[in-house]
Amino acid sequence: MSESLRLTIDGQEVSVPIGATLSEAVEAAGQPVPHLCWSDHTTPMGLCRLCVVEVEGDGPLRPACVTPVAEGMQVGTQSPRLTRTRQILLDLLNSTFDLSEADELVQSMESHGISPGRPDPEMRRELAVRDDNPAFIRDYAKCVLCWRCVQVCADDAQYTFALTLADRGYHTRVSTSFDAPLPATTCVFCGQCVGTCPTGALKGKREQLLGQGIPWQEILEQTRVEFRKRGSPAAAPRGDPS
Ligand code: FES
Repeated sequence: MSESLRLTIDGQEVSVPIGATLSEAVEAAGQPVPHLCWSDHTTPMGLCRLCVVEVEGDGPLRPACVTPVAEGMQVGTQSPRLTRTRQILLDLLNSTFDLSEADELVQSMESHGISPGRPDPEMRRELAVRDDNPAFIRDYAKCVLCWRCVQVCADDAQYTFALTLADRGYHTRVSTSFDAPLPATTCVFCGQCVGTCPTGALKGKREQLLGQGIPWQEILEQTRVEFRKRGSPAAAPRGDPS
């Protein structure tokens, strides 16, 4: 029995292993389809819908990251309908969140004819920056709720389960159980959440201070003092990064 499946992406024949998703097939074909909630390191959830594609003979648009490839599929990644759908989604993100550090999203917006940075005062999320630990800050104005930090903190990578989603609807936000400060949770300050964040909503404090020109030794000392004060020995900083 064949170990692979054949399909066409925008008319180009591609062969992928059984079990591959349309996102993987699209990547194999070298077609640029935007993604937000899915990354190479996280389980696809189909949340943002930016990756939608058209499948011949199928009415609705399909989110490529969660759609398994079937033998003989004919997939289209470019059409006026797809462009319009992505434009609407990107425009909603653009008017709701601060995307100034979301480089990939900004590129997608530009390639879809949307000018980045058009805040809509009525839609902007007004949540204060969360600064409850010596290592990271969470800037809620930049958090697009892609869920990737929650996934890598859980069983996609770290198995610490410190992060979760709180509240519902427009008020949904990434938080911890009972909204506890990070040092009071199972967080081990591994930094996986910061590494996967696509928008700069999560940032290492030391990186931020270095960017402000503060000398490394001063930052190190400050961080040590803060960890001692707030308590979390697992995360005490070590050495100079240079
Ligand atoms: Fe596929 Fe978000 S990347 S739905």
